[in-house]
Amino acid sequence: MENDTDTFEDLLESLREHSIYSDTEDWVEPNNVWMRSLRPQAFKYTEFEKIHSGNIFNYSALTINRTLTALYEQDFLYLPEKSIDIVKDLKAVYNPEIRAKKAKLLPLLEDKALSFLDDMIHVDGNWSKESFVEYINEKIKDSTTGIPKSFDIINNSDCKELLAQMLLIQHAVDFLPESSHMARFTKGDYGETQSALFRVMVDEYGYGKHEVKHSTLFKETLRSVGLKTNSHAYWMFYLNSSLLNNNYFHAITTAPERFFEYIGAITYAENTFGPYCKETAKLLKACFGKSVDTRYYKEHAHIDGYHGTMTLNEIIIPLIDQFGTKIIPELVKGIETSGALQKIMEDDFYAQVKWMNNRPKFVQLAKDIKETVLADIDNIPVALLDEPQGELSVAHVHDGDEFCIVDSGLLRFCHGYDCFTDLGPGDCVVILKNRMHGALVLSDSCQYRILSIGDYTKYADYQV
Ligand SMILES: [Fe+2]
Ligand SMILES: [Fe+2]
Ligand SMILES: [Fe+2]
Repeated sequence: MENDTDTFEDLLESLREHSIYSDTEDWVEPNNVWMRSLRPQAFKYTEFEKIHSGNIFNYSALTINRTLTALYEQDFLYLPEKSIDIVKDLKAVYNPEIRAKKAKLLPLLEDKALSFLDDMIHVDGNWSKESFVEYINEKIKDSTTGIPKSFDIINNSDCKELLAQMLLIQHAVDFLPESSHMARFTKGDYGETQSALFRVMVDEYGYGKHEVKHSTLFKETLRSVGLKTNSHAYWMFYLNSSLLNNNYFHAITTAPERFFEYIGAITYAENTFGPYCKETAKLLKACFGKSVDTRYYKEHAHIDGYHGTMTLNEIIIPLIDQFGTKIIPELVKGIETSGALQKIMEDDFYAQVKWMNNRPKFVQLAKDIKETVLADIDNIPVALLDEPQGELSVAHVHDGDEFCIVDSGLLRFCHGYDCFTDLGPGDCVVILKNRMHGALVLSDSCQYRILSIGDYTKYADYQV
């Protein structure tokens, strides 16, 4: 067990002792509901800087966000469908040792991951109840018009099913344990508002009918398009920003002093989620046809408008009447932060689907610049890899563009969930900065090189 002088790096390194944080053997976790690969072997080579707008999609940010979600979820119960010895299993994945590490790591990770949001969002000024209501209505109106540009890429793609699956995977981080964040604020004793929040919760939980619990409906969507439904089967494909947004909601619901900020954030989220779900349902139909189960999205297109009005009229307004205008800057902070995170998520997801959609172009680009890159090899940091059959590089990102070239064997390069290019001797691909990717060795062994070229445009006379 650690002592008080443990550094952030020591504490992080100590997570290696728990197998749930180690690498998985496949792209998808088939049954286990506790695996949260953190690529711990890379901890010691990573400099964990505070997240800011310039490094928000970098590797250190990804590891920080993964670790945060994994640790926060230590107080969410996950059970598998079957187990030979569930009592033993539970003690291995939830235990005092992990909780002690969590207690020490959380404040350090939160500071690194989330403090930039405080720096980015300043709320002051004099508020009245009326000016607040005008502000929030305006805010919601602005954010609920228009289709995300990532949806345009998906709609126009010749691999739209695959890209739509990547979208559903991003939703899964939050929708599988849906409203578990909210559940934290239904505890305690704080009057009428508590019961109003509980009424929202009860809807989320399908009034106790498991078949209409929101997460059950979401699982039916996953199942209908051939995706697995266990938490978190697609852990490695959660993008940096999907985890970041999820971590923000963990952070504000594990700190009761941030209750008003949470109420602001959830009101904004509920109000904007309905129109977003309506567009998502349309997109899913366009991608998968009739067979896709869109009840989750249809239900939210309807009920979240109601939840949005409800959180405003039955929670926010009564709270302002009860405690005065001093709570308004907190509410606004939640609204602004939630809005900023939605934008960050769309930027990240847009870049990812564009990268996946353009995969043949990045293979062609690599072919076109191969000669120039190899001629400059003495000036480029190179990693030489020699890996056995079945070796899987858990999905990750790099902080600059990379050039991957296979020297012998066969490497399955992964551009995102279920999105592959097989590379043989001499084949290569450009890996775009900050884009999620992985690799799997298909031959007996595979030798390949990763050249950190930084910016591919130094070698190319065109841009993808
Ligand atoms: Fe819901
Ligand atoms: Fe809702
Ligand atoms: Fe890589």
